[in-house]
Amino acid sequence: MEINKIYNQSCLDGLRLLPDECVDLLFTDPPYYQYRAQNVSGLKNHKDVVTEFDFDGFRSEQEYLDFLEQVLAECFRVCKSGAAGYLWCGDDFVSYINRIVEKVGFRFRKVIHWHKTNPFPAISTRKMYANSMELLVHFSKGSPKTWNFKSVNEMHNFIQSPICMGRERTEHKTQKPLKVCIPFIEISSNPADLVLDPFLGSGTTAVAAKMLGRNFIGYETNKSYFDIAESRISLNS
Ligand SMILES: C[S@@+](CC[C@H](N)C(=O)[O-])C[C@H]1O[C@@H](n2cnc3c(N)ncnc32)[C@H](O)[C@@H]1O
Repeated sequence: MEINKIYNQSCLDGLRLLPDECVDLLFTDPPYYQYRAQNVSGLKNHKDVVTEFDFDGFRSEQEYLDFLEQVLAECFRVCKSGAAGYLWCGDDFVSYINRIVEKVGFRFRKVIHWHKTNPFPAISTRKMYANSMELLVHFSKGSPKTWNFKSVNEMHNFIQSPICMGRERTEHKTQKPLKVCIPFIEISSNPADLVLDPFLGSGTTAVAAKMLGRNFIGYETNKSYFDIAESRISLNS
C-alpha cells in the first residue's frame, strides 16, 4: 500500500486492495443523491420547470444506498479499532446514513451542522428555504482512540463559514472549504496518522491532511477532478 498518494479509480476497487486496520481516520464526502430542479420539459415559463431526481449516476435510491453500504463496510474493515469517521450528507439522507454506519459496525456519535453563510438562493417556484446547512455525520469504530480536545467553545456540533470562494475555489461544484474540514481532522487524528477519503473530489481532505502533517490516501473516479486534486496537493508541499 502506497500512502500520500491518490488514485484515479473507483474507491470500491481501491479499498479492496488495502489491508485490514490500517486507517486512523475516515473523512469523506460521497456523491449526493438528491432532488434537483431541472427544466426537463424545455419550456420557458418557469412554472413549467419540473423537479426530478438527480441520481448522480445511480438508477435508484436503493442502488445509491447499497453502494454506500458496500463502501462503508470496506471502510470499517480498513479502519483501526478506535478510528473516527466523518461523512458529509444532506439533511434528506442523514437518517439513512446513520443506519448504514451502524449496520456495517461503526458506532454513530453525533451529527455536526455546517451553516453556509452564503448559500445558493432557493428556487422561488419551489417555495423553499435556501439550503444553508450541510451535515457531517460523526461515528467511530468502537470508542474513539483520538480526541484532541480544544476549548469548550470549539467542541460544538456546529460550524459556520461561507462556501468555498476566491483562490481556494476550483471547478468542483461541491468542494468543501478547508476551514470547515480542518478542525475535525485535527480533533480526531494525530500527526503521522493515515487519513482516508474514498471520494476525494477536488482533494480537500488530502490537502487538509497534508497541511496538518497527517498521511493520506484517497480515490476519485473523475479524471478532471483527480487532476485538480493532484495539483492542489502538490501546491501544498
Ligand atoms: C461530493 S464530491 C467530493 C467533494 C470534495 N469533498 C471536495 O471538497 O472537493 C464526491 C466525489 O466522489 C466522486 N466519486 C463518485 N463515485 C466514486 C467512486 N466510486 N469512487 C471514487 N470517487 C467517486 C465524484 O466524482 C465526486 O468528485
